[in-house]
Amino acid sequence: MSYMAQRVADFGTTIFYEMTTLANEHQAINLGQGFPDFAAPDFMKEAAVAAIQSDINQYAPANGRPALREAVAQKVADLYGLQVDPNTEVTILHGATEGIFATVMGVVNPGDEVIVFEPFYDSYVPAIKMAGGIPRFYTLRPPDWQIDEAELAALFNNKTKLIIVNTPHNPTGKVFNETELKLIANLCQTHDVIAMTDEVYEHIVFDGHQHLTLYNLPGMAQRTVMVSSLGKTFSVTGWKVGWAVAQPELSRAVFRAHQFMTFCGAAPLQEAAVTAVSQPKAFYTELTEFYTHKRNFLVDALKSAGLSPINTSGTYFVMVDIAKLGFADDVAFCRYLTTEVGVAAIPPSAFYSTPADGAGLARFAFCKEEKTLAEAAKRLQRLQKL
Ligand SMILES: Cc1ncc(COP(=O)(O)O)c(C=O)c1O
Repeated sequence: MSYMAQRVADFGTTIFYEMTTLANEHQAINLGQGFPDFAAPDFMKEAAVAAIQSDINQYAPANGRPALREAVAQKVADLYGLQVDPNTEVTILHGATEGIFATVMGVVNPGDEVIVFEPFYDSYVPAIKMAGGIPRFYTLRPPDWQIDEAELAALFNNKTKLIIVNTPHNPTGKVFNETELKLIANLCQTHDVIAMTDEVYEHIVFDGHQHLTLYNLPGMAQRTVMVSSLGKTFSVTGWKVGWAVAQPELSRAVFRAHQFMTFCGAAPLQEAAVTAVSQPKAFYTELTEFYTHKRNFLVDALKSAGLSPINTSGTYFVMVDIAKLGFADDVAFCRYLTTEVGVAAIPPSAFYSTPADGAGLARFAFCKEEKTLAEAAKRLQRLQKL
């Protein structure tokens, strides 16, 4: 008898764990996993310490500390012009990951279909499968990752319950434009489908692109769960403070699943998050400049090593076209790069339902200190000798 339940048996180990282990074994510069290697902002650390010192150390209310729910409601009002009730339309969760899982668990019935854009963030498909749902994939293709209306429309049918829209999109760096979001909004309304947006990179957009939220499109507020979190914006991926914004009926669905997953996240970090979420707009402008500089540096380094980075409009990732380099696939390339060149990247085939679709790509993260990126640039020059 297997001790492991069938529902998790074929999930395997995440590619991040595998590549980080290999990177550590070979002292490679880790441009694989998407977390900053620099210090979190002082004001965040001070707010967390102050919250613990003032003894905010017991359970938070299951839907989150009121001050944070209010701050999230204020943030979406200031930035997106949304009017949401902090008591009935905002739920604080243990990172966006719990937001994704609680939303899927809260709205998907066994046999329901869920549309996912691939390459996908790796928790979507396991969440859908654990809910008994069936993932249906729309493949975004490089270099533009554009959406074809007819191809997307063909995925919608009377079994479709949910579509997951991650913009800015990990791992492609695509920022969904208004036309694409309108297309998705129309399809959702025609087929009575709910949308879950994953907006964890909402403040990392480049070159004048604007992050737009599906929630804001006509007819979408009542059928959208907007998920985001602190991790990427405030360089605290380990804090795991996230939220879901949705009208009361959908919020209740998310909450019912959430209350029996974690009940609540870390109370002092929720309190500290109020300071973060209440930052003025200037904070986000500076963040854009900060990451634009890092993106440009890495893109130049990749080009000067003879690689072909694909244009990235948002997130802190850049995809590289490796199809013509003569490797068997992306895994072989990333292993070679880690063990022989000393730089780790992620093979994106793990983010496709048909892994071969990602075999010609590699994903690099640039949420790293200048000296880390400079050392990676130096090592990447070894590729010139290929
Ligand atoms: C697209 C996307 N969604 C969600 C998450 C997870 O967010 P959190 O750390 O808040 O759970 C990540 C983290 O890498 C991500 O890239």
